[in-house]
Amino acid sequence: MKIYLVTGGAGFIGANFVKYLLKKHRNIRLIILDDLTYAGNLGTIKTDLKDQRVVFVKGNIGDSEIVTNIFREYPIDYVVNFAAESHVDRSIENPQLFLQTNILGTQNLLDIAKKFWTTGKDENGYPVYREKVKYLQVSTDEVYGSLGETGYFTETTPLDPRSPYSASKTGADLIVVAYSETYKLPINITRCSNNYGPYHFPEKLIPLIIKNILEGKKLPVYGDGSNVRDWLYVEDHCKAIDMVLLNGRIGEIYNIGGHNEKKNIEIVKLIISTVRNLMEENKDYRKALKTNSSRSDLNLQFPDNPDWINEDLITFVKDRLGHDKRYAIDPAKITKELGWYPETKFENGIVKTIRWYLENQDWVEEVTSGDYQNYYQQMYGDR
Ligand code: NAD
Ligand code: DAU
Repeated sequence: MKIYLVTGGAGFIGANFVKYLLKKHRNIRLIILDDLTYAGNLGTIKTDLKDQRVVFVKGNIGDSEIVTNIFREYPIDYVVNFAAESHVDRSIENPQLFLQTNILGTQNLLDIAKKFWTTGKDENGYPVYREKVKYLQVSTDEVYGSLGETGYFTETTPLDPRSPYSASKTGADLIVVAYSETYKLPINITRCSNNYGPYHFPEKLIPLIIKNILEGKKLPVYGDGSNVRDWLYVEDHCKAIDMVLLNGRIGEIYNIGGHNEKKNIEIVKLIISTVRNLMEENKDYRKALKTNSSRSDLNLQFPDNPDWINEDLITFVKDRLGHDKRYAIDPAKITKELGWYPETKFENGIVKTIRWYLENQDWVEEVTSGDYQNYYQQMYGDR
């Protein structure tokens, strides 16, 4: 039996990974460590928490006492570190929190894993570790910076982060590499492109646009909407991490992405037409509309005919500071070495995702019931 420490397991990708592992592997135990920040929600994993294979610990990855106690209580085989401050816009407002969580939190996990996994020293003074343990750092394509019109990020592309978020993720990657080189700690780093799918917090582009449509709000597009992101269905990312954990070569970095580049404006237009079509196709979906929303920008009466869901809702707002132009991953290495490929085509994944949001408005209400309105006002009120 393998025992996993999954940090950030109550967030978007971490929770999807927990669900993926529980379905895929029978004989496992998952210890989820999450500090339940604004982005983490126990409701996201409430059915998983009923599974006897799962233990939840609320706590900060930077808290050495909490992490030490976990390692003392459970003989952890794998650490998969999803926990992070993940939103670029928030990093522009409060960089320090990103450095604390993403860099120092990562270093704390590495240090305690190293301590508990060490069984002795070799003749050169390097630590020797328990067999088959591994630390996997979930990183991002943003560490490579921004591309022009052409080209792709490979694992050897120089690191060139440009936002406080991506700089903090790069710092984390570098300390992971340092533990690999200096202490021979068995590690992998995965660098994935933009994920989409269920349980995505509605501060990020895709769920925010869906949520705004349902509230009759305007749809904010930064700059002229020509920035490009490379979208991957979240379950395909989870599958890749599982494969790297089990079969990735120790010390290696793997890029993850499905060659699915889209301009932001294309994504927003696609969401508009998909929501409208789904509402035409199935009247029940109209129940997701917030017909009594006092937040509507449009004073809409939400007529029965969904034609009002159209491109007039789009509003071009002030651009993100230092907005990276284009990301695009070359996934050749993980495909060649581990046989990974994305299973979900974007045309299907985006419809599946939008249906999920239309059918899970309770979850959206739950996760946005806290400070979300203040955040939204501060972020978009003066754009
Ligand atoms: P998220 O913001 O949805 O979730 C982050 C989770 O970490 C939350 O549950 C939060 O409560 C928890 N957390 C935050 N600070 C913590 C701390 N100090 N201690 C313990 N828990 C803490 O993020 P996500 O989109 O699921 O991203 C997960 C990871 O994947 C991040 O490391 C991110 O950099 C990386 N990543 C994300 C994407 C993407 O498109 N979302 C793509 C590539 C890589
Ligand atoms: O590439 C991987 C990264 O993808 C991850 O490392 C990050 O954790 C994740 O948040 C995501 O970062 P982005 O900045 O690309 O995602 P976001 O959803 O915030 O924005 C996607 C694009 O849409 C980006 O070009 C900015 C734009 N955007 C975003 C928002 C929230 C808008 O035009 N309007 C918006 O309201």
